[in-house]
Amino acid sequence: MAVGTVLITGGTGYIGSFTSLALLQNGYEVVIVDSLYNSSEVALDRIELICGKRPTFHKADLTNEAELDKIFAAHPTIDSVIHFAALKAVGESSEIPLEYYRVNVGGTVSLLSSMKKNDVSNIVFSSSATVYGDATRFENMIPIPEHCPIGPTNPYGQTKAMVERIIEDFITAQRQNLKKAGKPFEQWNGANLRYFNPCGAHPSGLMGEDPQGVPYNLLPLLGKVATGDRPKLKVFGDDYSSRDGTAIRDYIHVVDLARGHLVALNYLREHKPGVKAWNLGSGRGSTVFEIIKAFSKVVGKDLPYDVEPRRQGDVLDLTANPTRANKELNWKTELTMEKACEDLWRWVSNNPKGYRQEPPAELLDAVKAKTS
Ligand SMILES: NC(=O)c1ccc[n+]([C@@H]2O[C@H](COP(=O)([O-])OP(=O)(O)OC[C@H]3O[C@@H](n4cnc5c(N)ncnc54)[C@H](O)[C@@H]3O)[C@@H](O)[C@H]2O)c1
Repeated sequence: MAVGTVLITGGTGYIGSFTSLALLQNGYEVVIVDSLYNSSEVALDRIELICGKRPTFHKADLTNEAELDKIFAAHPTIDSVIHFAALKAVGESSEIPLEYYRVNVGGTVSLLSSMKKNDVSNIVFSSSATVYGDATRFENMIPIPEHCPIGPTNPYGQTKAMVERIIEDFITAQRQNLKKAGKPFEQWNGANLRYFNPCGAHPSGLMGEDPQGVPYNLLPLLGKVATGDRPKLKVFGDDYSSRDGTAIRDYIHVVDLARGHLVALNYLREHKPGVKAWNLGSGRGSTVFEIIKAFSKVVGKDLPYDVEPRRQGDVLDLTANPTRANKELNWKTELTMEKACEDLWRWVSNNPKGYRQEPPAELLDAVKAKTS
């Protein structure tokens, strides 16, 4: 019998597909809701190829509460949600902020409202280190602990901070209202997971990030430069007060991150803590130049770049203090940034068209040999 059934919003997307895989591999049943706005149904085939189990899929928009109600009604065993579906491009969020608030905040309100009606009581949310903004504005806040004050510097980060707050207010109200009515309340729980910089791909070379448009993150962009799809990388700012002038980020392998969701969900179900925030990061910061060097090493050639002025809203250093997750969730990163570079290159070099192509036969044979 399954350990439980989990609804995963945005489950065909990058982090959602890896988390769906991790849950299926650990005895959960998975129901995915995704509009396919930034992902492909092929991710479902790859999940099945790797673990022999296929998530149930519903194509639906998160902002459509009536659709969500129908999906919950069709799967009465769902007792938890892992919520990824969102728009996520920091730059774009300053150009079309209303769309970001509509989808990220409005979509979450529909989701929580539907969860309430259907008595689905655990939520694990994809938050981001972006909620901290520039933590160097305080003394002694790098690496960043969860008690660092929130202060996002762009509309995307604002949506994440707002959703964290909405989840906290909603879960707290559910618990208080049920308690007052003399009913069980401890089943209502939430985890706000603040990811640092997710990167990498599945070691099989069969699953990875496949955005529908131009990628926004450093490593996928470097992948495009390595395959010749883009001529050069743009480095935004080499005049930060870091060891080489470029901005520092904490890169976390997507396989470690997916496992972080599994353990956070298990923690909610077991310890029933109410709402808690956890940083998911490695605690190790790398500069942009260090990443270019590490990825160039894996590719076997120096990748070209141009230095441009700093981008508005960017900050010097987002490195996690992951102690709370290490201790409470018994979780820590096991895979390095260098391993993420290797896995990313295996994915990109073998699948330059992402999910719009068949993977090479030898990779398929290797995974089939493992699962048979
Ligand atoms: N990738 C990162 O660097 C990063 C860092 C911190 C936090 N996050 C958060 O993690 C989550 C997942 O990110 P990702 O990198 O996997 O992005 P992604 O774009 O690959 O995944 C998001 C998924 O949500 C779906 N979606 C978007 N709008 C929807 C809607 N209205 N209804 C239903 N589905 C919708 C998309 O089709 C996509 O499959 C997001 O909430 C993102 O903000 C990502």
